[in-house]
Amino acid sequence: MMTRREWIKRGALTSCGVALMGSHPLQVMAEPKKGGSADGGIQGPGSLKAHAQRRGLLAGSAVGLGPLRSEGAYKTALAQQYDLVVGEVCMKFGPLRPTPDTFMFTDADELVAFAEQHGMKVRGHNFVWHEALPGWFASTVTKENARKIMTEHILTVGGRYKGKIQSWDVVNEAINVSDGRPDGLRKSPWFELIGPEYLELAYHTARQADPYAKLTYNEYGIEYDNEASDKKRAATLALLKRLKAAGAPVDALGIQSHIQAVSSSTFGKGLRELIESAHQMGLEVYVTELDVNDDGIPEDDAAERDRIVAGVYRDYLDTVLQHQAVKAVLTWGFTDRHTWLNGTKSHRKKRPDRQVRPLPFDADYRPTQAFFAERDAFDEAPSRQAAG
Ligand code: G3I
Repeated sequence: MMTRREWIKRGALTSCGVALMGSHPLQVMAEPKKGGSADGGIQGPGSLKAHAQRRGLLAGSAVGLGPLRSEGAYKTALAQQYDLVVGEVCMKFGPLRPTPDTFMFTDADELVAFAEQHGMKVRGHNFVWHEALPGWFASTVTKENARKIMTEHILTVGGRYKGKIQSWDVVNEAINVSDGRPDGLRKSPWFELIGPEYLELAYHTARQADPYAKLTYNEYGIEYDNEASDKKRAATLALLKRLKAAGAPVDALGIQSHIQAVSSSTFGKGLRELIESAHQMGLEVYVTELDVNDDGIPEDDAAERDRIVAGVYRDYLDTVLQHQAVKAVLTWGFTDRHTWLNGTKSHRKKRPDRQVRPLPFDADYRPTQAFFAERDAFDEAPSRQAAG
């Protein structure tokens, strides 16, 4: 098996640590060092949350209620490593709304109860999105009743968890430049039914429902330095500026951070400018859904894939954590056993024959190189005032 040193020697490291392997530009960085507690362990002082807390950061993960209920190892690792959780699905419009007249809070209640039991904070995800809408939506929601349905949803759900949510993704993914609007807004069902003012309405309603939660705008595809991401970042910042100018109560920007281990693009300048611009608007910044998809790594050797994935974790987190506006890092799940990326082959186009390894724990709940890379990135980050 090729050693890491041989791997890097085979490519020409570019200025930002990109090793060009033939046609596979890989982002590889220094070997993650094994930091952590004196015993080298990963619990207590060696946990992700302990290392994050020392820098004023929250360390979190998305949570699936299925494994939370059925796998002891899942529950144990979650409680040991994280002080912030977000429901991967359970607080979305569709799962909460089996019918137009009913709410199903069982799963969300269980997540909130688990978090309270383990002294964890909770992110709410999400009130308004073009996906995860219930089957009855299209036949029930009209231009006449959409405002009422959206505001009642936010007031009911936000009100139920009032004071228990650190931050809400009030609107998720409202930008889609390819929809052709000058402002880059996505022509989502909510946009079509209410108009662009659905955004201001959603944030004002969320503030009314829960005056304590940090109201967040969450977006993907704004991480890389390339033309598409540049345009999406510009549209995202323009939207945030519009909302702030209109007096909409937006407190934070969520950068989803679904990253590729192999990409023709790198990240750095655009990401730093985005975070600084959000900071200038008075916003906190959260890395809300980090995972590193290794589908594009040609090697099959798991250790080699893990090393490259860890290098991207380190590179990405070093980049974002340099700014003290960044207050939280959540991965989208924490174990390769339960990643959305293995759910469908659409995220594994290059190697649909194999499962991906995008997260800090492998499918057997063993910490991967990415775990140590995330923990080391916390150690190297400047301290900051903790999130509100
Ligand atoms: O629970 C049902 C199950 O009862 C049913 O048998 C099965 C087949 O229909 O579906 C199950 O629900 C699925 C759910 O995940 C739980 O696994 C839904 O179909 C499926 O659509 C849902 O996918 C989630 C997706 O958002 C849509 O809500 C993914 O797990 C989740 O990782 C993904 O997360 C999104 C973020 O919210 C926003 N950013 C992008 C990210 C990835 O797409």
